Amino acid sequence: MYTQSFNVPDTTEPTGAKAPLSLVGVVSPLSEQDAAAQTRFDTKLNADQKIEPQDWMPEAYRKTLVRQISQHAHSEIVGMLPEGNWISRAPSLKRKAILIAKVQDEGGHGLYLYSAAETLGTSRDQMLADLHSGKAKYSSIFNYPTLTWADVGVIGWLVDGAAIMNQIPLCRCSYGPYARAMIRVCKEESFHQRQGYESLLTLMRGTAEQQAMVQDAVNRWWWKCLAMFGPPDSDSPNSVQGMRWGIKRISNDDLRQKFVDATVPQAEVLGVRLPDPDLKWNEARQHYDFGAIDWDEFWATVNGNGPCNKERLATRVKAHQEGQWVREAALAYAHKQAQKNSLKQEAA
Ligand code: 3HC
Repeated sequence: MYTQSFNVPDTTEPTGAKAPLSLVGVVSPLSEQDAAAQTRFDTKLNADQKIEPQDWMPEAYRKTLVRQISQHAHSEIVGMLPEGNWISRAPSLKRKAILIAKVQDEGGHGLYLYSAAETLGTSRDQMLADLHSGKAKYSSIFNYPTLTWADVGVIGWLVDGAAIMNQIPLCRCSYGPYARAMIRVCKEESFHQRQGYESLLTLMRGTAEQQAMVQDAVNRWWWKCLAMFGPPDSDSPNSVQGMRWGIKRISNDDLRQKFVDATVPQAEVLGVRLPDPDLKWNEARQHYDFGAIDWDEFWATVNGNGPCNKERLATRVKAHQEGQWVREAALAYAHKQAQKNSLKQEAA
């Protein structure tokens, strides 16, 4: 979809030693050419236009995008694992077909996102090496186990619901390839959220045991989903600059609040209790108040010590190693085709 071929340099790209570090507060003096490029970049952002791969951009903007997009891609790929765990045990052919389609979509999202990150000059090999060595982050949420079939429904409803809340504003991200990839991702995520909710509605119309299974899954996933939006704004080192650059449009705390406000009525329709004694409507704020998130637990998980971190990485590394022959075969085929084409051209 997005390839390095998009990455044709701006003809007026500055040749100066170093790109400026940020949009505001630039400390080092800029060469005339760099200053002109920075002004063009700022003007585009201020006019809410997209920055494209061939445009000049500050090095820190590029690095921030590579960080965020690659983390996002890793989250999609690792996110296939908790639900993939249930494909062979789905309770009916219909549920199995839906789940296979959904897990496959997540793989596709990872691929669009790796391609979008590649337009910024990084390589897929490098991004995967960082994931496999444990250097790169991916979403905390995928380090928890899926213990029952209800977990699959709750992931659709709450995890994908939280993901959409975060990702809809990313459709307006200032970097063109990321914004465009997110449009398709969000459409598919919307189907994921609905299928999860519908599966839970079915279980909630079932036996007392099925209802209890849903409640148990909601109890285990609720707080993890709230933490998924990232640390509070006051502890979020990347937010201010990310928002200035138009990469992030809505802050972690505001998205979390939007998610809570949207989800409470859905829980009521479903007939489940959200496991928070402090959850209540605040008339003055016109929002739900909610209890304190366990940030120590969140950071332990982000830093590799959640219940499934080691298992998730080991599974990804094994899958990558086992796919080596496919990559080699594809390269050998491409090489053969290139040779054939050049022979044809010589003969013509
Ligand atoms: N899990 C793991 N790490 C997290 C995190 C989470 N839930 N939330 C924040 N962090 C990390 C950040 O990556 C950052 O680490 P770094 O500086 O070492 O890179 C650090 O915690 C501080 O957080 P900030 O708030 O300062 O970081 P950001 O400004 O980048 O905001 C974010 C974090 C909101 C996750 C933002 O990066 C973002 O919107 N990313 C794109 C969306 C995304 O990656 N979603 C992941 C879920 S995808 C998904 O769920 C798949 C779907 O199919 C279900």
